[in-house]
Amino acid sequence: MFSIHSALRYPVAKGSRAIWISAVSAAIYPWLLTGFHWFVTLPDASGPTHGLTALRVVCATLMLMLAFFIPLINLWIAGAPELQSAVARRFALIAIATPASYVFFGVLTYMAGSQIPDVWSWSPAWLLIGSVICAMNGNEGQRRHVTASSKLRFAHGVCGSLASLYALFHIGNHAAGIFSVQLHSEIMEFGRAVYRSTLGEPLLVAVMLFQVLSGIRLIWCWSEAAADRYRTFQVASGAFMALFILGHMNSVFVFARIWLGIPTDWSFATGEPAGLIHDSWNIRLLPHYAMGVFFTLTHLLSGLRVVLIAHGTPTHTANRLWWTGGALSGGICVVIMCGMSGLHLN
Ligand code: HEM
Repeated sequence: MFSIHSALRYPVAKGSRAIWISAVSAAIYPWLLTGFHWFVTLPDASGPTHGLTALRVVCATLMLMLAFFIPLINLWIAGAPELQSAVARRFALIAIATPASYVFFGVLTYMAGSQIPDVWSWSPAWLLIGSVICAMNGNEGQRRHVTASSKLRFAHGVCGSLASLYALFHIGNHAAGIFSVQLHSEIMEFGRAVYRSTLGEPLLVAVMLFQVLSGIRLIWCWSEAAADRYRTFQVASGAFMALFILGHMNSVFVFARIWLGIPTDWSFATGEPAGLIHDSWNIRLLPHYAMGVFFTLTHLLSGLRVVLIAHGTPTHTANRLWWTGGALSGGICVVIMCGMSGLHLN
C-alpha cells in the first residue's frame, strides 16, 4: 500500500519522489486557503447571509488544518533519515516556508500590479520548479562533506541573542493584543522609541539581515546530510525564519511605509477593515504569522538547547526544556492569533 513513508523508503530515484511531494504540497497550499475562504463566506441557500453552519465550520477548520500541515509534511521529509539526496532535503526546507513565501509572493505580485490571481501563477511555478529540481537531482555530483564554521555559528548565536531581544519584545507586544488593541498600541509606542530610533532601526535591520544570510549558510551546511530530529528542527525553523524575515521586512519597510505610505500599526497587521478571516487575500496572513511566531520561538529554544548541552546540562534536561518551551510557544501563537482575529479579553 502507498504511504509517504514507503515512498521515501523506496529507492526514490535519488529523492525525486520526495521532491514531488514537496512541490505538490506547496502547489496545493493556496487552494486550501481558498477552500477555507469559500466555506467561511459561502452564502446560505436562504440568502446571502454569513451565518456559518456546523458543517461549514468543520470543513473550514479542516482546510486550515491541512494548510498548517504542509510545512509539517516538509519538515518530516527534511528529517527523513532514509533520504539520501541533499537536493531533495534542501527543496523540502524551502517548501517548509510555504506560508511565508506565499505572503512574500502575494505582496510582490500586488506591487507589480499583476492581474493574475496568485494561485494561478504560484501552483504551476512550484510544479515547474519541482520538475527542474528533479532533473538536477539526477545529476547530483559527488557529495562533499561541508561543516559549519564554528566562527559563523558563534557569530550567528551572538547576533541572534541581540535579535531575540527585539523578537521577544515584538512577540510579547502582539500577544498583548489579546487584552486590547489599545494596550498593544501603547506597548508598541514605547518600544518604537528604541527600535525605530536613528541608531536602533539601522542596527535592527543589519542584525536581521546578518541572521538571514549567516542562517542560510548554516542551513546549507547542515542540510548536506540527514541530522537528528532536534538539529533538523533547528535547521527547518531557521529556513522558515529566513523567508519570513525577508518577506516581513519587505511588507513593513517597502510595501507599507514606502509604497503605500501607511502606518505599520494594528490595522495594517490585521488587514483591517476586512480582517484576517473573511478576506480571500488576508487569510494567508494567519498561518504566516502563526508559524512565524512559532518557528521564531522554537528556533531560539533550539539554540538555547545546543548552548545548554555544550555547557554541561544533561541532554534529557535540555530536551525537556525544549518540549516545554515548544508547547508554550504553541500556546502563545494561539493567543496572538485569537487577538489578531478579533478576540479581546477587555
Ligand atoms: C504575529 C506575528 C507578527 C506580526 C503581526 C508582526 C507585525 C509587525 C508590525 C505591525 C511591524 C511594524 C512595527 C512598527 O511600526 O513599529 C513589524 C515590524 C517588524 N517585525 Fe514583525 N510581526 C510579527 C512577527 C515577527 C517576528 C516573529 C519577527 C522576527 C523574527 C518580526 C520581525 C520584525 C521586524 C524586524 C520589524 C521591523 C521593525 C521596525 O519597524 O523597525 N516580526 N512587525
